[in-house]
Amino acid sequence: MNFELNEEQQMIRQAARDYAQRELIKDVIERDEKAIYPAEHIKKLSELGFLGMLVDPKYDGGGMDTVSYVLAIEEFSKVDSSIGVIISVNNSLVCYGIESFGTEEQKQKWLKPLARGEKIGAFLLSEPGAGSDATSQKTTAIDMGDYYLVNGVKNWITNGNSASTYIVIVQTHKEKGHKGINALLVDKYSPGITVGVHENKMGMRSSDTHSIQFTDVKVPKENRLGDDGFGFKFAMKTLEGGRIGIASQALGLASGAFELATKYAKERKAFGTEIINHQAIAFKLADMATEIEAARLLCLKAAWLKDKGLPFGNASAMAKLYAADTAMKVTTEAVQIHGGYGYVKEYHVERMMRDAKLTQIYEGTSEIQKIVISRAIANDDL
Ligand code: CAA
Repeated sequence: MNFELNEEQQMIRQAARDYAQRELIKDVIERDEKAIYPAEHIKKLSELGFLGMLVDPKYDGGGMDTVSYVLAIEEFSKVDSSIGVIISVNNSLVCYGIESFGTEEQKQKWLKPLARGEKIGAFLLSEPGAGSDATSQKTTAIDMGDYYLVNGVKNWITNGNSASTYIVIVQTHKEKGHKGINALLVDKYSPGITVGVHENKMGMRSSDTHSIQFTDVKVPKENRLGDDGFGFKFAMKTLEGGRIGIASQALGLASGAFELATKYAKERKAFGTEIINHQAIAFKLADMATEIEAARLLCLKAAWLKDKGLPFGNASAMAKLYAADTAMKVTTEAVQIHGGYGYVKEYHVERMMRDAKLTQIYEGTSEIQKIVISRAIANDDL
C-alpha cells in the first residue's frame, strides 16, 4: 500500500490551492450573498485545464487521474464549494458520460468543447416528482423515426443556465420500466427549451440551479448515448463517478472549515489562555481531524479504484456518505468554535455549514448511498 502522492498529483493540488487561496477567496462572500455565477473564474479555470481535467488529451482534456481530481476539488471547495460542484458536474457527470459511452462522432462534436471548458455541461435526471426514485421519472421522448420528441420538466439542475450541453434522461418506452429509459445529448438552445428561474438556495449559492422545461423538443436519434434503453444504467454508472466529485467537495468543506477553526482556536483567548488549550475545544478539533482523514482516505480509495479500472461504485457511495456527513458535522463544530463570530459572514464558516448540507442531498442522498451499500452487503458484493 502506497499513500504517497506522485509529483504530478502534488503539482495539480498546488495549482488548485494557489488559485483558490489567491483568487477565489477575494470575492467568495459577495458571490454567495448575491448568488453570482463565477463566470470569470470558470473561464480562468478552463484555461488552466480543470474543466476537462479527467478527459483524455485526444479529446482535448487534461488526461489527469482521478486521485488528482479529488485533490483539486478538495482545494477549490476549501474556499468555494460552488466552484467545486461546477467542475465536478462538468467532469464526472457530463464529460465522463460522453467519453465512456458516446460514439466517436459524439466525442468529437460534444466532448471536445466541454473538455476545453468552452462549453459547460449539465446532467438532467431529477424531476419535480422524481429524484431518489430515478426510474419513476416522467419526461418522455417519443420515437418519431429519425428523432425523439421530448416533453417534460427537469428540476434542481446544477449548471442549468450556464450549461449549453445537456445530458437529459428520458422515458421512451414506459412499459419497459428502467429498460425503457434513454440518455440524450441536447443543445440548450434547441427550440422548445425553457430555463426556469434561478433557485434561491440556502447554500452553494453561486452555482446556478434551475428547472428546465421541454416542450416538443426535437432531438436527433444520433444524440442518444448508448443503445436504446441504456439510459438508466448510463445514469447509474455516471453517478458512480459523480459521487467521487461530491465526496471531494464535502471533504474540501470539512478541511477548509477545520483549518479556519484551528487558526481561530490558536488566536482566541478565553479564561486566560488560547481556547485550543481548553479540552472542550481541543477534543472537538481532534475528532474533526480524525474524521476528515477518514473521509479523505475513502475519497482517495474510490479514486484509486477508478484509476485502476476496478469497480468503484460501492467505494464512491461510501466516500460520499461519509464525507458529506463529516462536512455537516465539522462545519457545524467550526461555527461552534468560532462562537458569535462563526454566525456572521466574514468568518466563512457559516457559509460552509450551509453549503455542506447540500452534499448530503444531491447526486444521491445519504439514504440512497445506504441503499447502494446495503444492497452490496446483501449480495456479497462489498
Ligand atoms: N451500475 C450499473 N447498473 C446499475 C447500477 C450501477 N451502479 N445500479 C443499478 N443498476 C441496474 C441494475 O442492475 C438493474 O438492472 P437489471 O434489471 O438489468 O438487473 C437496474 O439498473 C435497476 O436497478 P435497481 O432495481 O437497483 O433500481 P432501483 O429503482 O431500485 O434504484 C437506486 C436504485 C440506487 C436507488 C437508484 O435509483 C439511485 O441511485 N437513485 C438516486 C439517483 C440520484 O443520484 N439522483 C440525483 C440526481 S443527479 C444530481 O443531483 C445532479 C446534479 O445536478 C448535482
